[in-house]
Amino acid sequence: MATTPTPAKPVNAPLKKIITFYFRFTPSYSAIGYWARRIFWGRIKGQFSGQTWLVVGGSEGIGGAAARSAIAGGATVIAVGRDAAKLQAFQASLQGPGTLKPEVADFSLMADVRKLLDRLQQQGVRIDVLIDNVGIQKRDQIITKEGLETSFATNILSHYLLTTGLLERGLLSPQATVIEVSSGGMYNHMMVLKDLNITGEGYLGVRAYGLSKRAQVMLAAHWREQHGGRGMEFYAMHPGWVDTAAVGRSMPRFRAMLKSVLREHYQGADTIVWLADKRPKQKQVEAIWFDRKERPVHIYEHTPKSTATRGQLAEYLAGWGKG
Ligand SMILES: NC(=O)c1ccc[n+]([C@@H]2O[C@H](COP(=O)([O-])OP(=O)(O)OC[C@H]3O[C@@H](n4cnc5c(N)ncnc54)[C@H](OP(=O)(O)O)[C@@H]3O)[C@@H](O)[C@H]2O)c1
Repeated sequence: MATTPTPAKPVNAPLKKIITFYFRFTPSYSAIGYWARRIFWGRIKGQFSGQTWLVVGGSEGIGGAAARSAIAGGATVIAVGRDAAKLQAFQASLQGPGTLKPEVADFSLMADVRKLLDRLQQQGVRIDVLIDNVGIQKRDQIITKEGLETSFATNILSHYLLTTGLLERGLLSPQATVIEVSSGGMYNHMMVLKDLNITGEGYLGVRAYGLSKRAQVMLAAHWREQHGGRGMEFYAMHPGWVDTAAVGRSMPRFRAMLKSVLREHYQGADTIVWLADKRPKQKQVEAIWFDRKERPVHIYEHTPKSTATRGQLAEYLAGWGKG
């Protein structure tokens, strides 16, 4: 019997976008991509003795794994987190030969960042490797007691304040390596400065996160232009999809779907440790490193259309950072 073909049901646009997204990125950003590329990599020398690292968000997750590698290589690591007990438990789990110095600060609060800078200055530290790693994604809009949208404050303004504060106070060594831990989540977002700190209507957690992550990449390039010629290196990187506490909290469905292929913490931290060890030459001023390779900062047609410059971003952050 002849049958009339039923027309295929149109796949709705958001669903199509989601399916395309997962097909495109899962093989690369998951542990599959890590293992496929790992075959071609050498061992990281990881001789960090005599170095001082400052790792913000250094008591667990990707920052914790970077801190652990630095300590295994002999570094002194100043690890920043909000929870003193978590920092102590992490410290107790370490084998050395390097050491961990816990510092408690809440990087959603700029007053805490400034107090940390004062303490570091009083201690007379010289930072060789700065890992601007702290980053959060919030579904609901949360305004800090300082009146800032919390992911803007934590993910980008605190990084700006800490890094410029260290530079201004001469607390970075002349050969320092500064690494911004960004995210592939920035790829979908074009920089719109006025939307970076949205307090009120128009807030969308995933966009607030993506914008702050793009801002990190632009800021690393800005610092590279301003200070790079004098021996310092500034990089932005992204870790891929890593099975951390943050992912479980902020993206439970994503984690449930992909947990069997998410990266382990050390795999997410690999490019951070490799950059600090190798200090590779960066070809483009603005770039993002992923799995030990320099990658482009735009993969969609709409994002290069932004007219916001790196200098304007730095000015914008300086405006919010006055206090
Ligand atoms: N996981 C992923 O798949 C993924 C993908 C792309 C990019 N990233 C980026 O990687 C970075 C690290 O993420 P993660 O997944 O490793 O996070 P995580 O597992 O949640 O680790 C967070 C670390 O940051 C500290 N922290 C959190 N909020 C803080 C605050 N307000 N002030 C100071 N310290 C704070 C935590 O300690 P306390 O709780 O004690 O404060 C902890 O040490 C983030 O920038 C994130 O955007 C992650």
